Amino acid sequence: MDYIQEVKNILSVKFENQPCANVVTFGCAQNENDSEKIRGLLAQLGYSMTDSLENSDIVIYNTCAIRENAELKIFGNIGKLKALKAAKPDMLIAVCGCMVMQQHIVDKIKKSYPFVDIVFGVNNLEILPLLMYKKYTEGKKQILPPQEKTDIIENAPILRTGRSKASISIMFGCDNFCSYCIVPYVRGRERSRKPMDIYNEFKSLIESGYKDITLLGQNVNSYGKNLEEKIDFADLLQLLCTVPGEYVIHFMSSHPKDISKKLIDVIRDNHQISRRIHLPVQAGNDRVLKEMNRRYTISQYMDIINYAKQQIEDVSFSTDIIVGFPGETFEEYLDTEKLVKDVRFTQIFNYIYSKRTGTKAAEMEDNISHKEKSQWLNRLIKIQQEIVFEHLNSYNGKQVRALVEERHRDGSYTARMANNFVVKFTDDSECLEKFVTLEITGKKGTSLTAKLLNK
Ligand code: SAH
Ligand code: SF4
Ligand code: F3S
Repeated sequence: MDYIQEVKNILSVKFENQPCANVVTFGCAQNENDSEKIRGLLAQLGYSMTDSLENSDIVIYNTCAIRENAELKIFGNIGKLKALKAAKPDMLIAVCGCMVMQQHIVDKIKKSYPFVDIVFGVNNLEILPLLMYKKYTEGKKQILPPQEKTDIIENAPILRTGRSKASISIMFGCDNFCSYCIVPYVRGRERSRKPMDIYNEFKSLIESGYKDITLLGQNVNSYGKNLEEKIDFADLLQLLCTVPGEYVIHFMSSHPKDISKKLIDVIRDNHQISRRIHLPVQAGNDRVLKEMNRRYTISQYMDIINYAKQQIEDVSFSTDIIVGFPGETFEEYLDTEKLVKDVRFTQIFNYIYSKRTGTKAAEMEDNISHKEKSQWLNRLIKIQQEIVFEHLNSYNGKQVRALVEERHRDGSYTARMANNFVVKFTDDSECLEKFVTLEITGKKGTSLTAKLLNK
């Protein structure tokens, strides 16, 4: 923080006009939340934000390591900055986020992308002004190796992108070590923020007009485990729901091994909480789940799904699925199809298994070809499409409440229901960023169509 003024002074001499910054997120919602914090820092340094690479005086790529294709795409994007930097030598290029929490990636950037000026990971965003100061005053590149750090910084500046939607990180890191996953290695050990810090951030967002808040953590169901006060995620939700106002709270991700009936009861009793539960299942076969180190069985998973269906009217589920985990057979994959048909998810994020260096699964034998795994994925996508269409059809003629997110040039609006379905409607009145009641008239593609009943 001490370096903010120093860097501001340097920038005011260096640039005649206000300098521009472009922060690009390649990862998940948690990474986007980090990007908002980086933008908050940059705004304090005097930058205005831009989406254009050409107009930028600093470009920051906030990266993701979750799958190989994510990393390849990011390297491709970093490579493209070479020409830009050659044309504009004063521009700073920084890379941060999960990918550069791996030493081999930092080494590769040093060796193959010498035009990158600054590298910092995920645990010390606030170090950016210092690194910029050093780069400007010493002229040397500032490439930090991955840093382990556990303390949580409260009240850091943040520049939010959305006007009605916002996210709050309630915890950081992950201790689960699912055998395929790089996150525990790049995000470090799990730690929760204090409930009152979260409450204050949430309350001030609602008071300043935000209506759609997502609570973020790699496993929100283990919230509170490392805190002194005795509190779990269900208690935290209950606490947040005491804030008055019309809003919707989403949360992700839930780990099935830690989700409790108590949480389902809290959702049932508090209508501000989204009726859509994102509950990543990963696979439909118990042997595969065990190899994945997920620590639940399909029967336990179905128990909680059935309990929620019983308790919460209009509940829906979304999930993440990995096909082609090392050693998974076609018969075992078919159990995933069965599960998908049983639960009838409203949305599935499907992935083909990707080997991540340093994880346990990377050591496992993997005999199924990528081509075959793609075929499994396509089968699953097809099955899911039919299920989504059935869900969409079931809304015909129903009244729903939705938050209007976008107004289009032709006067039409896009709104989102609490279960994440997108609804399109046209109306002359001003509806943007308001909750509206709609009557569903049909479907178009994967969205619903509706007419406005009232605001
Ligand atoms: N913490 C969250 C998931 C974060 S990563 C949770 O446990 O639910 C988001 C998703 O990426 C995971 O749910 C998983 O489906 C997928 N994923 C993670 N590692 C992967 C890998 N090595 N290959 C393919 N997909 C992966
Ligand atoms: Fe990865 Fe598992 Fe942690 Fe999710 S819970 S981030 S899948 S290790
Ligand atoms: Fe990617 Fe890091 Fe999120 S690896 S999925 S950006 S926690």
